Amino acid sequence: MNILITGCAGFIGYSLATKLLKNKEIKLFGFDNLNKFYSVKLKKKRLSNLKKNKNFKFYKIDLTNKKKLSNLFQNEKIDIIFHFAAQAGVRYVSSHPEKFIKSNILGFHNLLNTSKNYNIKKFFYASSSSVYGDSNKFPVDEKSSLNPKNIYGLSKKLNEEYIKINFNKKTKYIGLRFFTVYGEWGRPDMLILKYLDYAKKNKTLYLNNSGNHWRDFTYIDDVTKILSKLISQEFKKNEIYNICSNRPILIKNLISYLIKKTGYDKIKNVDLNNFEVFKTHGKNLKLRKKINFSKYSNFKNNVDKTIFWFKKYNHLI
Ligand SMILES: NC(=O)c1ccc[n+]([C@@H]2O[C@H](COP(=O)([O-])OP(=O)(O)OC[C@H]3O[C@@H](n4cnc5c(N)ncnc54)[C@H](O)[C@@H]3O)[C@@H](O)[C@H]2O)c1
Repeated sequence: MNILITGCAGFIGYSLATKLLKNKEIKLFGFDNLNKFYSVKLKKKRLSNLKKNKNFKFYKIDLTNKKKLSNLFQNEKIDIIFHFAAQAGVRYVSSHPEKFIKSNILGFHNLLNTSKNYNIKKFFYASSSSVYGDSNKFPVDEKSSLNPKNIYGLSKKLNEEYIKINFNKKTKYIGLRFFTVYGEWGRPDMLILKYLDYAKKNKTLYLNNSGNHWRDFTYIDDVTKILSKLISQEFKKNEIYNICSNRPILIKNLISYLIKKTGYDKIKNVDLNNFEVFKTHGKNLKLRKKINFSKYSNFKNNVDKTIFWFKKYNHLI
């Protein structure tokens, strides 16, 4: 089976690629533009780990380069796509809105339009809990209303809508609404690694809403287990799944735990900003029914593993 992962030097793409490469039957192709949103050194290290496996082939491609995208599909026969390449990071929205439009809307269109001409069996693509915006009924399920609060969430909502009007009849399109994925090899702009990095650099961490908000943290190994189980499933034309643990964590409590573990408490409370949501909490019943997965791993153990990883690899951040 030939699988393409876009954004393979990124957190989720790299982690899934690492897991899939353990299966010798899978030939894996990956592309990424290695942009500077966060440490390029970290992205290159992830990539060099993947390149050790002879079943992996990397292309440096930007989603806006239609020619390179076409060449890739002409040269390689792809059965399944995991599309993760995107501009992520809700807090980056206000300073760089055009990057979200370029990669997440134009880039998404380019990949969809190009891949449509080839016989792709399944096209999985990253959506986000950000499509829900502020809700007043929790947990949100796949039928809950969508009211994104920023361009990032809007771009993901648009991806889900666009699939409905621009598709290949033979391809199944599956949207994956990820909720705050964390763990080893994670993103330095997200809270746990950011806290550890600030602690190392003795920088003050500004804590949004004084930590009085909730996130449905979902551990990367649970995510990659879920994604690899999804590969072999049968789908209808166009489906959406929440990828979440259904266990929201109060940020204040996470910070207390990190302080207990590291002793670092240079933290300044600030007000809730208007582009982040107060709470994410997703229902995962649809997913659990689909793949028979219910054993989500322990949050504190996973945070401990992330701290351990950071001790070894913090020079990459
Ligand atoms: N990590 C999370 O908690 C989370 C939550 C919700 C949704 N998502 C979505 O999941 C996907 C993967 O997220 P991640 O956390 O691994 O992010 P990431 O930033 O680590 O990975 C994205 C990768 O895509 C690459 N990329 C970005 N724009 C590109 C372009 N125009 N052309 C080619 N490559 C490009 C980047 O260099 C990066 O390596 C993204 O679509 C993100 O929006 C992630």
